[in-house]
Amino acid sequence: MGSNKKSLMPMGDNGTSSAEQLLPDALSTAAARFVDSLKINSISEAVRRGRPVVIKRRHVYGEQLTELANLYFRIAGLPIRFWTKTEDWQRWEVECFKMLNGDRFRVSRVRNNAICIDQLPGESLWERLNHHTLTRRMVEAAGIEFRRAHQFWSKDFRGSWSHGDAGMANVIYDEKSDRARLIDFEIVHDKSLPTLSRHADDLLIFLLDLIATASARQWLPFTLAFLNAYDNGPVIAQLSRQLSPPSGMAWIWWGVRTSFANPAKIKQRLAKLRDLTSHLGHYRAVAAARVRQRRRASMTCQTMTAGMPRPISRARHTRERAKAPSPEMPSKLPTSR
Ligand SMILES: Nc1ncnc2c1ncn2[C@@H]1O[C@H](COP(=O)(O)OP(=O)(O)O)[C@@H](O)[C@H]1O
Ligand SMILES: [Mg+2]
Repeated sequence: MGSNKKSLMPMGDNGTSSAEQLLPDALSTAAARFVDSLKINSISEAVRRGRPVVIKRRHVYGEQLTELANLYFRIAGLPIRFWTKTEDWQRWEVECFKMLNGDRFRVSRVRNNAICIDQLPGESLWERLNHHTLTRRMVEAAGIEFRRAHQFWSKDFRGSWSHGDAGMANVIYDEKSDRARLIDFEIVHDKSLPTLSRHADDLLIFLLDLIATASARQWLPFTLAFLNAYDNGPVIAQLSRQLSPPSGMAWIWWGVRTSFANPAKIKQRLAKLRDLTSHLGHYRAVAAARVRQRRRASMTCQTMTAGMPRPISRARHTRERAKAPSPEMPSKLPTSR
């Protein structure tokens, strides 16, 4: 398994499934560690027709291992699944990579158990974070790319596309073009999840890496820069609702994925972010209500005179008002606290 297979979605009212209530924590932790250690693919680098490529190959027991992992995800109430059939996995990886990166990069199936992907220039944001070379510009590029990616239509979801495993290790940033790109489409969101929740989960998985690993000085400015660049009020409001740490196996899974980074620190940072993002949602809702109430003079039944708003300026005005949380508030989240 890759380095970032995690998700944090509450399940039932108390965030636990009936199956997991029967499992003691020690067993849940052992199960999470086991699933986390599963090696489903191997990655190797090569040069094909002069192009540097990455070959991603499923192991012989890949299908059985993904079935085991999916069973764990179901019991733990994690809303993600591996593609179990190797050819489904190949199709999805190739489709997603082409959709997002096909403007400059190639991808293809190789025999019956591998794919060959052009190597993207740059480094993953996870490496950057760990080498202390992550900058605000990079997380902004990631926010812009997440927004772009979430606008694609997916026939598998019968709705907007989502990643399902959008941790920082799966975001490659190229300094030269100041561009972030997404890779690793091996896991998908459960199709029954509403689009807003899938999108919010992608943001959450990215941000959990920052929250767990970035320094006290950097985690919040970088988080806010990412969300401001993403710039989608309804998804950020949904994220706010998904920021409560779940209980049970979902929380243990996250602990395993972050090598048990201080849980108190993570809870405190999540609470701070929830506070900030929930306020943003509230201000946006108030602003939208105000816009609806204060309708501007209609132009359709009146003769146009100098000073009356033209359609273009009305549209711009409405858009700007809708973006501004309130007259006193900036339209975006603050960039630091
Ligand atoms: N197309 C690519 N360009 C550059 N690096 C890549 C590419 N594909 C994979 N990698 C590197 O290999 C790592 C593992 O690949 P990934 O597809 O994420 O598989 P896994 O499921 O093992 O996480 C990535 O984190 C990245 O560092
Ligand atoms: Mg990966």
